[in-house]
Amino acid sequence: MFRSLASLFFYTRFVRSFSVLGYRRALAGQAPIAPDFSGQTWLVTGATGGIGRAIALQANRSGARVLAVGRSRDRLKELKSEADKPGRLVPLMADLSLLSELRRLPSKRSVQTRPIDVLVNNVGVLLNEYQTTTEGFETSFATNLLGPFVLTEELKAAGHLVPQGLVINVSSGGMYGSPLKLEPMNCMDPDAFDGMTAYAMHKRAMVELTRGWNNRWQGEPVVQVMHPGWVDTEGVRTSLPVFRRALQRVLRTPEQGADTVLWLAEQRPSPPSAGGIWLDRSLQPEHEFAWTRRSPHSAEDLVTYLRGQAD
Ligand SMILES: NC(=O)c1ccc[n+]([C@@H]2O[C@H](COP(=O)([O-])OP(=O)(O)OC[C@H]3O[C@@H](n4cnc5c(N)ncnc54)[C@H](OP(=O)(O)O)[C@@H]3O)[C@@H](O)[C@H]2O)c1
Repeated sequence: MFRSLASLFFYTRFVRSFSVLGYRRALAGQAPIAPDFSGQTWLVTGATGGIGRAIALQANRSGARVLAVGRSRDRLKELKSEADKPGRLVPLMADLSLLSELRRLPSKRSVQTRPIDVLVNNVGVLLNEYQTTTEGFETSFATNLLGPFVLTEELKAAGHLVPQGLVINVSSGGMYGSPLKLEPMNCMDPDAFDGMTAYAMHKRAMVELTRGWNNRWQGEPVVQVMHPGWVDTEGVRTSLPVFRRALQRVLRTPEQGADTVLWLAEQRPSPPSAGGIWLDRSLQPEHEFAWTRRSPHSAEDLVTYLRGQAD
């Protein structure tokens, strides 16, 4: 009962900004962007569906060579067949929840051909059932946070990220419901697992990880964090069927969800020194509720924790 009321409160609070109404209001009067990403190489995770697919196809249409990472050969093939410039869309097979597969990616020939100008850590899942990977991590933790951490650090260490380039972390408005936590993010007790709570923690951590990387890397490359609003995707259809049924008419399209990623890559704003998260091309606060500010942990603690998990 309390949980349903809390969800209702949460969704009511954000419906005006996270739905398509917020998108339309925020972008009213703004000219559509016509980015030119010619000469750039992008790597997009979770590119076979939803927002990742929209990002990959639009970056490709705008001239970028796109390394599209997914775990389904058929869906990667389909993606390539839908690309405007199929010769510049390079499918890369990997299960993004497995560190061993992520560690192999930097040595693939297509990744070594040219350094990456824009890395989009898009993949993300909200799991209602408890699952663990064959490597022993809770699957949503491995997919949403540890995997992107390992992939980005490995690419950076191997010199595959252009220093003047950009890393874009895709978070979620769900992060407004959690402070930064460390150990609870990788839930090892099936009875204690709550998919929504786990997802909120991972997405909060993405915001802090962005700060941690910017502190360490000092702009080489710049790291940004955004969230796409509420988007009608397969992920939402399978993980949040009730939410989807209730809000279907005001959900965004995947292309609308992808807009801020493309805008960040085109405009290249400086990373906000006081923090913040991008939505609809504008910077939003990192916290909406005072209680989520209260965490004993820092971004630096998070990086140390993730390094420890990855070792
Ligand atoms: N949709 C929203 O309303 C919303 C709101 C806020 C934030 N976001 C964030 O936006 C991002 C994209 O969300 P979405 O709604 O577009 O998701 P989606 O519809 O579930 O699509 C996710 C894509 O990632 C792939 N994928 C999932 N797990 C994978 C793995 N282990 N290895 C390789 N590929 C994997 C899926 O491919 P398979 O077919 O192989 O599963 C699918 O193509 C996520 O980070 C999500 O948290 C979404």
